[in-house]
Amino acid sequence: MEQILSYVDSNKDRYLNELREFLAIPTVSSQAEHNADIRRGAEWVADQMRMIGMQNVQIMDTPGHPVIYSEWLGAAGKPTVLLYGHYDVQPVDPIDLWTSPPFEATIRDGNLYARGSSDDKGQVFIHLKSIEAYMKINGNLPINLKMIVEGEEEVGSEHLDDFVKEHKELLKADLVLISDSSMFGKGIPSVCYGLRGLAYMEVEVTGPNSDLHSGSFGGSVHNPIQALAEMIASLHDKNGKITIPGFYDDVRTLSKAERAAYKKLPWNDKKYAKQLGLKQLYGEKGYTTLERLWARPTLECNGIWGGYTGEGAKTVLPAKAFAKISMRIVPDQTSAKVAKMFERHVKKIAPETIQIKVRTLHGGEPAITPIDSPGVQAAVTALQKGFGKKPLYQREGGSIPIVVQFKKLLGLDTVLLGFGLPDENAHAPNEFINLDNFFGGIRTSIHFYNELPGYWGKQGKKK
Ligand code: BES
Ligand code: MN
Ligand code: MN
Repeated sequence: MEQILSYVDSNKDRYLNELREFLAIPTVSSQAEHNADIRRGAEWVADQMRMIGMQNVQIMDTPGHPVIYSEWLGAAGKPTVLLYGHYDVQPVDPIDLWTSPPFEATIRDGNLYARGSSDDKGQVFIHLKSIEAYMKINGNLPINLKMIVEGEEEVGSEHLDDFVKEHKELLKADLVLISDSSMFGKGIPSVCYGLRGLAYMEVEVTGPNSDLHSGSFGGSVHNPIQALAEMIASLHDKNGKITIPGFYDDVRTLSKAERAAYKKLPWNDKKYAKQLGLKQLYGEKGYTTLERLWARPTLECNGIWGGYTGEGAKTVLPAKAFAKISMRIVPDQTSAKVAKMFERHVKKIAPETIQIKVRTLHGGEPAITPIDSPGVQAAVTALQKGFGKKPLYQREGGSIPIVVQFKKLLGLDTVLLGFGLPDENAHAPNEFINLDNFFGGIRTSIHFYNELPGYWGKQGKKK
C-alpha cells in the first residue's frame, strides 16, 4: 500500500498535466457542434484505459454519444466492481462569468478550475489514476473491475438503459461504484446513500395567432406570458408546498431516526444563506434545509421565455410563452406518475383565454442505496484512510438516474463515493475541483479497492 500511495505522490505533476489534457476537450453533450469533441473525449478515455493496463477497451457506439468500456478480470474469486462515470459536461455559458477559460484548466488557491473538473471528468480521472498506481506497482488489482464511462449523462442518459439491457452479460458484476457526487464539505468526507429523481417538463402557452401591437390590442387579449406566470405562481402555496393534487401522496415520510441524524450534521442556515448571497432561505414549511434538499420533492422553473427580450423596448403582445419546469422527486414517487399529474393539473388550471401544450423532456427515478452493504462499509473505511477522518452519511439533492436502472436491470446496489464539494460550481461558471480532495480521492479509491474483498468476504457474500 505504502508504495502505491507514494507512486501517486511522486506522479502528482504528471497526473495534473494529463487531467488538463482531458479537460481541454470540450465534451459538451447537449450541443451538436461538439460532436467531434465528444468523439475525441471518448478516444482520450480509451487511450488512458489502455495506458493504465485495462483490457478489452472498446468505444461502443449508441444512437447518441459513445460509451467507453474496459475491464480487468484477473482477480479470481474476488468481487467484481462496475465503475460508472461520465465524460460529457454541461455547456459553459454564460462564458463572460468565467475567470479563466473553461477548457484551459487553471489552478488558483489549491483549486483546479475548468468545466468538468468536478462533474465528472475529474472524478473519472481520479479512478483512472488510482487504477494506474495499483497496476504500476503491483501489476494487478485486488478486485475485478469493469468500467463504463458514458457521454450522455448531462442530457438524461437517453441511450444508456438500452445499452445496459443489450450488454447485461458484459456488465455482470457484484456492485456498482460511482464517483459523481459531493462530500458533505471541505474536510468532511461522506458516503452518499440517496439521490433525488427528476421529471422535466416544457410548457407552451399560445394566445393570439400572431404577435400583436400591445397598444392596439392590449386590454382585449390575455397576454400568454402573464397567463403562464399566473399558472407557475399558483404551483406553490404560501407555505412553499406544491399545489398539484396528489403530488405528495407517494412521498416516503422521513423516519424519526433519519431526521435525528440530519440534525446532528454540522450545518448552519445563516452561513449557507450568506454563502449564496441571500438574506433568507426559502422552502417547504415544516422541514429543515437538509430535509428539503435531500428528502423532499421540489418544483422549479428553470427558464421562462417569450415576447421581446432584445435590446431596448419593443411594444408587443406576444403570441406565445414558454417555460421549462422540473420537479425533483423522492422515494416512492415515480417520474412518469409525477409528469402525468403535472400535465393534468396544468391543463386544468389553464384559463380559457389561452391554449396549452405540455411535453415531458426527460425523467429519472430517485434512489436510496443500502448503507449496511459491504460496499458501503468498505467505502467508509477507505474514506477514513484516504482523508484521515471518519465519514458521515448523507443524501444528495441531485440525480443520477442510472443508479435505479443498475438495480432494476442488473440487480446491483450502488456505492456513491463522491469527491466533489457542494460549492464547486457544477453546471455554473468557474467550476472547480479542490486539489486536496482530488488527491484524497485517488488515495481513497486505492483503499477502496484494497478493502473491498475483506468486507465482501466478511458479510458472507460470494463472488
Ligand atoms: N453529478 C450530477 C448529479 C449530482 C449532483 C449528484 C449533485 C449529487 C449531487 C450529474 O452530472 C447531474 O448533473 N445530473 C443531472 C441529471 C439530469 C440531467 C437527468 C441533475 O441532477 O440535474
Ligand atoms: Mn455528474
Ligand atoms: Mn452534472
